[in-house]
This record gives sequence, structure tokens and C-alpha cells, in this order.
Amino acid sequence: MMMHSDCEKILLSQEQLKERIARMGKKISTDFDESEPIIAIGILKGSVIFMADLVREIEKSVELEFMAVSSYGASTKSSGAVKILKDLDIDISGKNVLIIEDIIDSGITLSYLKEMLLKRNPKSLKICTLLNKPERRKADVKVDYIGFDIPDEFVIGYGLDYDNKYRNLPYIGILKREIYE
Ligand code: IMP
Ligand code: MG
Repeated sequence: MMMHSDCEKILLSQEQLKERIARMGKKISTDFDESEPIIAIGILKGSVIFMADLVREIEKSVELEFMAVSSYGASTKSSGAVKILKDLDIDISGKNVLIIEDIIDSGITLSYLKEMLLKRNPKSLKICTLLNKPERRKADVKVDYIGFDIPDEFVIGYGLDYDNKYRNLPYIGILKREIYE
């Protein structure tokens, strides 16, 4: 696979992603009880590719649900405000919920979502993210499963976008600054 010309460099290759996600799936499989399904909630649209690969590595029954929240649009910095664009269409009370995110940056999106979903009384609620930028955290939120801690760079690919582009790149790349500056 040739690197996209808007990429500065490849941060995580297809092979690295595949290997890590397989291990995350195994860990999740052992952490959850067999008796009840896992309600996996993917946060649209960035988590879709990660979610598709992750759930196929989980050897338990998994139901797929989705939510959409406001994103950055054509900016690389969070506005701080979170808006629900698409809510769940199921009741999660008494269920084991696993939120699936592409990346946690400031943590504002997830801490808001977590509080909101906890009010609906799930049996348990865990958070799983492919990428984590620890340096940029503003909101304190406990993350149960992290694929990779990454440096403070704007990344694209494997579901992550800049202005809705690059989601289909099969690797995680660092976007060239000249594209967004
Ligand atoms: P937070 O609320 O700041 O944690 O924002 C998380 C959301 O910001 C993610 O779900 C992404 O949509 C977006 N985001 C943050 N950093 C990046 C990045 O480096 N590349 C692409 N999207 C990002
Ligand atoms: Mg986004």
C-alpha cells in the first residue's frame, strides 16, 4: 500500500493495527460475562472501521448500535460543545454497554456521553478507544481499553477524517500540516 501524498508519515501500519485489535478483542472476550450480550455502541463516523474489525475479534455475542455526536467539521481543534445528532434507538437499562471510539483527544465528547448514558441505568458501561492522545486531555474520563497512546499530532485514516476525507486509508497516518494550516 502506497502512502497517501497528504500524509507526513505512517504512524501505525495495517499489520500493527490488526495485531493490536486482535489482542483487544481477546481481552474484551475474557472480561465480559457469557450470559448477556455486549451492546457495542459505535460513535459515528470515525469508529466504524475499528468497530468492524474489533467486534470480529470478540468471541461473545455482540449487538451493534450507533450514535452520532457533533464533530469538529473542517477544523482540527475541538469546540468544546457536544451535540447529539443521532441518539440510540434501544433501551440500554440493565445492559452491558461498550462505547467504541476512534480517538480520545480532549476527552470532552466521551465524558459527556458517559454521563448521559449512565443516567439510563446500564448494568455496566465501559469505554474502548483505538487511539488516545494523553497530552491533550481536558476532561477526566476513565478509559477501559486503549489501542495505542499517540503523540499530539493530527492523524487520519482507518476511520479518522479531516473534513470527512481519508477515512478509507487502511493505516493511521499523520496529516501534513500544510493541509490544515
Ligand atoms: P475529544 O472530545 O476532544 O476527545 O474529541 C474526540 C473526537 O475528535 C474524535 O472522535 C475525533 O472525531 C476527533 N479527533 C480528535 N483528534 C483527532 C485526530 O487527530 N484526527 C481525526 N479526528 C480527531
Ligand atoms: Mg471526526
